[in-house]
Amino acid sequence: MSKTAFPIRPEILDFEEYSPGLSIEDIRRRFGLDRIIKMASNENPLGVSPLALEAMRRHAAFAFRYPRGCAPDLCAALAAYHRLPENCFVPGNGSDEIVDLLLRVCPSPGRHNVVACRSSFSMYRIASRLCGVEFRAVPRRDDFAFDYGMLLEAVDENTALVFIASPDNPSGFCPPWEDLAALARALPSSCLLVLDEAYADFCGDIAAHSLLPRFGEFGNLVVLRTFSKAFGLAGIRLGYGVMPERLADALRSAHMPFSISILAEAAGIAALGDRDFYERTLSVVSEGRSFLTETLAGMGCTCFPSLANFLMFKPPAGRGTAVEIFEGLLARGLIIRSLKSYGLPEHLRVSVGMPEENSLFINALRELIACFSPQPARSA
Ligand SMILES: Cc1ncc(COP(=O)(O)O)c(C=O)c1O
Repeated sequence: MSKTAFPIRPEILDFEEYSPGLSIEDIRRRFGLDRIIKMASNENPLGVSPLALEAMRRHAAFAFRYPRGCAPDLCAALAAYHRLPENCFVPGNGSDEIVDLLLRVCPSPGRHNVVACRSSFSMYRIASRLCGVEFRAVPRRDDFAFDYGMLLEAVDENTALVFIASPDNPSGFCPPWEDLAALARALPSSCLLVLDEAYADFCGDIAAHSLLPRFGEFGNLVVLRTFSKAFGLAGIRLGYGVMPERLADALRSAHMPFSISILAEAAGIAALGDRDFYERTLSVVSEGRSFLTETLAGMGCTCFPSLANFLMFKPPAGRGTAVEIFEGLLARGLIIRSLKSYGLPEHLRVSVGMPEENSLFINALRELIACFSPQPARSA
């Protein structure tokens, strides 16, 4: 075949793509197992909200129609839910789409840069790279807390966006709102703080951690939220950004016209109204997280305090590497997350599951750690 010289941008040729958690189907095929438990992608352990499911059924017959642009009914429902002006909301095909839009709308390639913490959610780096925008990864403290001094040192007059996930993925770290407010105020007014609150619902006290209730106090704040976690709609792809109106107008004008489907809009509105499902989700996650934290620590793992629906941990020293533990769990039908792609090869992340799933995970891990126990020296 002749070599055609079609162009591909150089930054795409050695692109480090997003690495998702392994799927149930992949592992079923690889190991020929009947039962697979997935605790890898921080999905909702309860499944889909019954009200959202019902709304999707009702709207399925309209799937032959194009949706309305930018999901106006959803924006109205979100405005009522958060008590904020409707024009500040931009819905996306997952909050990933809002990250991508911010990168395409705000920084100019070759001039502006983007700042985030090292080993944070990889989409910030990936979307920056895809847009040809310089990405600056700032070291964090050993306990995975954000180093605000280092973040501010990395910011200069050409920094367009600072991304912070709070609670952070993968560490679960979640500072008080006062620290985030101080960061927003310390940034130049030309630099946006993009606060990714994908996991904020799980933090126990939203008023103590989120900047969304205080959104009006800041002129340079964007808050991202998603329906993929506490609202159980990861597969339908729905998220949103809350931002100053002028920026929201700019994002809406750059938005793909139909990226929110009719089913996604209907499901999102119904999920917002399903208080029972939401409360049950928070209680299953809070109880499961306490159980996993205490049990992992009791088994000698180093467990990082988390206010999200997952936990980051390191297996006990000398009892198998993180890779061995990860592979051993896979072979037993348990998918958790290796953090190699986050640059943390010694760490693992497990999503909180239903009580039975949490126990099966702990039992399998206990068995594995016992297999890797140091053997007593034999006498000659
Ligand atoms: C911190 C963080 N932000 C955003 C997302 C993406 O959310 P969505 O499914 O809405 O695109 C994730 C997904 O895991 C995440 O961990």
